[in-house]
Amino acid sequence: SDPVLSDAEYDRLFAALKALEASHPEVVEADSPTQRVAGGLTRAFPPVAHRVPMLSLENSYNEQDLTDWDKRARESTGLKDLEYCVEPKFDGAGISLIYEGDTLTRGATRGDGETGEEITVNVRQIRAIPLTAKFSSYGIGQAEIRGEVMINKDIFKKFNEQRAAESLPPLANPRNAASGSLRMVDPREVGKRGLTAILYHLSFFQSLPRKSLHPTPGTHSGVLEMLRALGFRSPAGEMKVVRGIGEVIAFCREAELRRDELPFEIDGMVIKVNDLNLQEQMGMTTHHPRWAMAFKFKPRQGTSKLRRVEFQVGRTGSVTPVAKIDPVPIGGVTVSSVSLFNEDVVREKDLRIGDTVLVERAGDVIPYIVKPMEGLRDGTEKPIVFPTRCPVCGDELVRSPDESAWRCVNASCEAQVVERIIHFVSKDAMDIRSLGETNVKKFYGLGLLRDIPGIYSLDFEKLKSLEGFGPRSLQNLREAINHSRAQPLHRLIYGLGIRYVGETTAKTLAAAVQDIGDLEDWDVERLTSLEDIGPKVAESVHRFFSNRDNLHLLKKIRDAGVNTRNTHHKAAGSGTLQGKTFLFTGTLTGMKRSEAEELVEAHGGKLLGSVSTHLNYLVAGAEAGSKLEKAKKIPSVTILDEEAFGNLIGAHKKGTHGS
Ligand code: IVH
Repeated sequence: SDPVLSDAEYDRLFAALKALEASHPEVVEADSPTQRVAGGLTRAFPPVAHRVPMLSLENSYNEQDLTDWDKRARESTGLKDLEYCVEPKFDGAGISLIYEGDTLTRGATRGDGETGEEITVNVRQIRAIPLTAKFSSYGIGQAEIRGEVMINKDIFKKFNEQRAAESLPPLANPRNAASGSLRMVDPREVGKRGLTAILYHLSFFQSLPRKSLHPTPGTHSGVLEMLRALGFRSPAGEMKVVRGIGEVIAFCREAELRRDELPFEIDGMVIKVNDLNLQEQMGMTTHHPRWAMAFKFKPRQGTSKLRRVEFQVGRTGSVTPVAKIDPVPIGGVTVSSVSLFNEDVVREKDLRIGDTVLVERAGDVIPYIVKPMEGLRDGTEKPIVFPTRCPVCGDELVRSPDESAWRCVNASCEAQVVERIIHFVSKDAMDIRSLGETNVKKFYGLGLLRDIPGIYSLDFEKLKSLEGFGPRSLQNLREAINHSRAQPLHRLIYGLGIRYVGETTAKTLAAAVQDIGDLEDWDVERLTSLEDIGPKVAESVHRFFSNRDNLHLLKKIRDAGVNTRNTHHKAAGSGTLQGKTFLFTGTLTGMKRSEAEELVEAHGGKLLGSVSTHLNYLVAGAEAGSKLEKAKKIPSVTILDEEAFGNLIGAHKKGTHGS
């Protein structure tokens, strides 16, 4: 899940090796990657042998490759033209699922293609994978199906934002996030990652001896329809069945233009001979089936020269190296500035000033440097020197052993103050759009704005005299600032820029209190009892609300008329659960846990972090574990399933909630 080179680069090297081996068969080694599919095994999950090897696909990069393949396919089958099914090539992590008697019995990773890792418990956490599916209605008793586990782009983006809030380097692309998530040791964590799965292949099945409701499909497109009808996500909605390679090429071209419209990443299209009997007849090599071909889209990569590195001081004082490169167009945007995240990344990649670098930008993801092209060095490259003092205030930088970032710990360092204000007004925080980065810097530079509360006491008379601030834009600014006073509490909490507190954590905190001031009384233990808040985050929140300067700042914000209350808390609820305590465990299917928790609080109920005699209701969703067992032993705890909880809440519910 942490590749050392880009996919495109891998494919290029693989193709070069294949060509070399074709012309010099004597150099082919038994362990050459052309002799088996790539992949790696770790020991955390037990190995399982795949019933049918999980092969790779042969790649094509242009129309000629496709035309040649079609010709070979027609020759080998003796047919004039072939029917193909064309579907996206999903950029995720391959999985194999086994269903026996309509029940999911095993999930496995691809591993090295022969042997995968058994990850059944984790696979069960993915909602897009049904735990039972009526294969029997298609005359199938046992089935092995294959597909791809993925993370939608919007969830991936949020995930990286959260990592950034925790000063962790972002994951390079959704695929690495998916494959990493799939192999997490704690299945509950897997459930929280928002994974999805698309199934596209029936690799093995055993027929039932009796007559079934539907015939077993005889084409690949029929398999995709069947999978969809059985409750899986399949490419049935994105596929196209065509005759002849001309139509294949046209559809691939069109798909490449529209790749960004899909909610997930695709890196090409897969063309499959539609007739399953023909597939069988064509067979496979040790590396790939002969009846399928991948058409790879243009890589979202480019090369450029690394000219210099700037060091930017963030709102938490972390100093981030940013590479300035010659502008290069990648995937529709011009890239000239690429974050290098931290010193370790620079050292690991051995980047030097003057290097030619390979830059990748997948979809909406921020660009990153894959690696320097070492072969292009001429000896004039210079090492990247890290500053020992803050480039803005000149204070000494520190780096704690458990961190990868150097930090300026001077809280009044101008860079930090400015970045904190910029964060406060940003879109996902207080959303004061007309303020923005440029104006914050300008006002700060002119001494018109020194801190966050200062936003609410801006001297508009002085602003009038500034160039570019006509009555209209000043009016907009005034309105945007006023509007921000009524923002929901979680935006304020997020906007404060507390370390490790991203949007999700801010929402959790906001939902747990009546007023932001409540957090001053919360200790680390109480904070940790909230969902998704670990000791590190709790520690940071506690520290923030114990700091006198911060409390002073908060008071000024409150005095400026900014909403500090959880308005949701009182308004929506009926108070009928007043004094009752709740705890959720397991997976809810009808609503998100956070929504259910909000409902409880909205009705005056309280949430607890663990099972104890103080608990009134335990709501147990699917796969509830130790908490449920413990609760069963306490007679005063009422155990509700999701439906019973719905009834309880429904009885008190006002208006509609959820879907
Ligand atoms: S079919 C026996 N269809 O791409 C043929 N594979 O680069 C099984 N992949 O190993 C593969 N989307 O993990 C197939 N629509 C699709 C796919 C797909 C993504 C993956 C699969 C495969 C890899 C090869």
